[in-house]
Amino acid sequence: MCGIVGYLGFRKAYPIVINGLQRLEYRGYDSAGVILTDGNQVNLYKTKGKVSDLKEVVSENSIEGNLGLGHTRWATHGIPNDENSHPHVSNSGKLVIVHNGIIENYNTLKKELIARDYTFKSDTDTEVLINLIEEVQKRNNCNLEKAVQLALTNAVGAYAIAVFDVSKPEEIIVARLGSPIAIGIGANNEEFFVASDASPFIEYTKDAVYLDDEELAIIKIGEDIRVRKIQDNSEVEPNIQELKLNLEQIEKGGYDHFMLKEIHEQPNAILDTYRGRLLANQGIIKMGSVDNNIAKFLNANRIIIVACGTSWHAGLVAEYLFEDLARIPVEVEYASEFRYRNPVINKGDVVIAISQSGETADTLAAIKLAKSQGAFVFGVCNVVGSSIARETDTGAYTHAGPEIGVASTKAFTTQITVLALIALKLGNLKGELSNSQYHAYIQEMSLIPSKVEETLKINDIVENIAAIYKDAPNCLYLGRGYNFPVALEGALKLKEISYIHAEGYPAAEMKHGPIALIDESMPVVVIATKKGHYDKVVSNIQEIKSRKGKIIAVVTKGDTIVKDIADHTIEVPETVEAFTPLLTTIPLQLLSYHIAVMRNCNVDQPRNLAKSVTVE
Ligand code: F6R
Repeated sequence: MCGIVGYLGFRKAYPIVINGLQRLEYRGYDSAGVILTDGNQVNLYKTKGKVSDLKEVVSENSIEGNLGLGHTRWATHGIPNDENSHPHVSNSGKLVIVHNGIIENYNTLKKELIARDYTFKSDTDTEVLINLIEEVQKRNNCNLEKAVQLALTNAVGAYAIAVFDVSKPEEIIVARLGSPIAIGIGANNEEFFVASDASPFIEYTKDAVYLDDEELAIIKIGEDIRVRKIQDNSEVEPNIQELKLNLEQIEKGGYDHFMLKEIHEQPNAILDTYRGRLLANQGIIKMGSVDNNIAKFLNANRIIIVACGTSWHAGLVAEYLFEDLARIPVEVEYASEFRYRNPVINKGDVVIAISQSGETADTLAAIKLAKSQGAFVFGVCNVVGSSIARETDTGAYTHAGPEIGVASTKAFTTQITVLALIALKLGNLKGELSNSQYHAYIQEMSLIPSKVEETLKINDIVENIAAIYKDAPNCLYLGRGYNFPVALEGALKLKEISYIHAEGYPAAEMKHGPIALIDESMPVVVIATKKGHYDKVVSNIQEIKSRKGKIIAVVTKGDTIVKDIADHTIEVPETVEAFTPLLTTIPLQLLSYHIAVMRNCNVDQPRNLAKSVTVE
């Protein structure tokens, strides 16, 4: 949550910082601020609202300065208002900070500072931190680098921070614990960029350092970046990486919204996920991180999957995949529950953590817990170099490319793809899938991108259906087997971007309660593909029809039975049951997208949400 951008160099800081904030708005968008200095004057602008509101506030004012810090916020401590917006300034007016994370002991620290006559303008933990740094500097008569390091040893919680002293505008101190931060390095150290991810500076440099937890970096014009451990001040050799990201990947590319672009990127994203792994000609699946740990997977007593939100739904699909194809027992856990309920974890357990962002605080904590109890932890992440990717023992990236729309789409289908590849491989090695079955699955997986492409052609049909139901106050989603998690995911998509109340259920559970909700005004989305419990789902559809519910059915191409009963049908191409979620998800993503657009909702930045949930 929250996005940080900083610039120090020879260019004007403002355009870089403000454009960077717009790219990071997916991380939080309830208030924003920027501070700029040219060494003489210091200008601070903050406002409740989005980065576009901040731009308006700044518009008539000075934007001078080659040093700037900006912040886009997802409120934790204190409501979204001008005062609580970052950057925050210390009592003397000398020190400035932007912060992503939570300082958990801020209350104790605040009381100590108030006892020393510090005053506070905001309700934030961040203002406490910058005054703590100021107090430490005063007490120890030390430079800023030392003061930040000492102050952070007293802070409990999570942070990515950037700090500078207005009287020394040639230096920024950056530090991280639990929240991501990247530093871009310009040619000859003539300029530096700081950001929560590398997107704000990719057009300026490809050289970047991602700080690890408990590291602090000192950035000074004309000097090599220095990195130190916060706990003992020891030096660390900075690991300068070459960024693979390009500008095109983070722009809308002609689509109205990132979500729509990302829905349409799924054929290629799935292809990228299995590229080099699914070798259809040779009939094999090659995955280094699985191959290198194959005994652990094959001897696993069970697999525990930890994740949140959409990633948790991908985990539920994986439960069907691993149990069905590889006969390995699976438990799927909300990371937030797992971490706090003293779970039984045995040495032979394999834990799979799934996360698009790789930064989700609950998932990260669940991984740490599992590792501390001796489990082998495998990560399925999208963001390369993210905290979860680094914290897990090993893992497989989804290679979906940046997902910017807050509602997860291509992350879901690519997570399922990775998990399906693993399940197939293990199924074959365990003898649960014969070679011919294995090869047939591999062939079918190689066709999935083109089948997703074909599925996307139903866009106009879905848009028409959306127009009919856009004002419905409630919606039910039903599915069975592999498509039960898809029903949950469809409901989540609708809730989060259109603010319509929606529930996902296993179709057969309907008669145990939810059926009471059905009347002529209730749209019910039913996934009724030919493979997998088709007849049973048809019966469930009849039950809805008898109660006058409106049925929107996702069916296999050529279906005639459901077509006769349902109010609307959306066809997807035929595939094996195990891969149906990769197709049936697509119309549900489009349905929520179109309904949200018709309701004038902010599709890419739904209210109260943020893309990267780095708080518990
Ligand atoms: C829903 C959505 C969220 C995320 C959840 C986990 O569309 O995006 O439910 O899936 O916050 O995030 P990651 O996958 O980054 O751990």
